[in-house]
Amino acid sequence: MNNLLSIENLNIKFKSKKTYTKVVTDVSFDIKKGEILGLVGESGCGKTITSLSIPGLLPKDAIVENGKIIFDGHNIMDFNEKELTEIRGNRISFIFQEPSTSLNPLMPVGNQILENIVIHKKISKEEAKKSVISLMKKVGLSDTENMYKKYPHELSGGQKQRIVIAAAVSCNPALIIADEPTTALDVTIQAGILELLKELNAEYGSSILFISHDLALVNQMCDRIIVMYAGFIIEFSEAENIISSPLHPYTNGLIKSIPTESKKGKKLYSVEGRVSHLRENEKKCPFASRCTIAQDICFKSVPELRELIPGHFVRCFLAKGDKNG
Ligand SMILES: Nc1ncnc2c1ncn2[C@@H]1O[C@H](COP(=O)(O)OP(=O)(O)OP(=O)(O)O)[C@@H](O)[C@H]1O
Ligand code: SF4
Ligand SMILES: [Mg+2]
Repeated sequence: MNNLLSIENLNIKFKSKKTYTKVVTDVSFDIKKGEILGLVGESGCGKTITSLSIPGLLPKDAIVENGKIIFDGHNIMDFNEKELTEIRGNRISFIFQEPSTSLNPLMPVGNQILENIVIHKKISKEEAKKSVISLMKKVGLSDTENMYKKYPHELSGGQKQRIVIAAAVSCNPALIIADEPTTALDVTIQAGILELLKELNAEYGSSILFISHDLALVNQMCDRIIVMYAGFIIEFSEAENIISSPLHPYTNGLIKSIPTESKKGKKLYSVEGRVSHLRENEKKCPFASRCTIAQDICFKSVPELRELIPGHFVRCFLAKGDKNG
């Protein structure tokens, strides 16, 4: 598989009162064509900011220090607003956590999918409408002629997210960024939405960047997994390696906290303490204050992300490749 997207040494910071906080530090990864890549980590670790940087949608006060985002062979960082607008919704589309934020409350849902098609494809409205109906069927909606005319408030959360997904795939994008796409939905309909994303990935071949705080969910969905912590990639490998042989103490903690049959009725493990980002120029392991095996060296410099086993990267001084101490 070839790379669709390569992010190289991305660094993003925000100004706080007296200093800067780096919320994305030295982030590099690639997404292969047709792959579902998982990005996992607890709240505030930088998943959304990383993903928003891809189509140039960062908040205005975000400062990108350096880095390259190579998409289809071009560095998106060099694109002007017109070029960025052209790839958004067409080559790269988003599915966010809360479907209502992606939908216009004053427009029938069918028209919202239609609008995306008409903006990016040179086809007549009649042809576009036929595509919309067929897409609505494809994403599992029934009574589509009727539903086409409904407004977002007339639909359930799951139906709205299916409309958002139909709009997201309407131009056959190369990359879909799905940021916690099922977190706001009822547990009973989550599985259906995840299954749909997998089916669309298989049918259209779009790559998916699948973002979640839930490692078990990411494991179900993804080929490879990136684990982020406080703005750093701390582990990156095939999903199987991450789950069966984690190398980083934080990933280990995440795995121990996944509920399973054998843990039923027992108190679930959780990583003690809270995430804090390093201040600018602060030199220590970002996980040091919460790590149960930390040693002096961990408080003196930032560990590099290294390929400890072929295809398995970890950012920890003490990771040995067998087990975590
Ligand atoms: N506009 C902003 N100004 C200052 N800091 C910001 C801004 N937007 C995000 N941040 C900070 O950047 C960090 C990363 O935020 P981000 O939204 O990427 O986290 P996340 O991993 O997506 O979290 P969640 O799981 O809660 O969605 C957080 O510490 C957040 O407070
Ligand atoms: S570098 Fe040190 S503090 Fe950081 S995860 Fe490894 S052992 Fe823990
Ligand atoms: Mg987020």
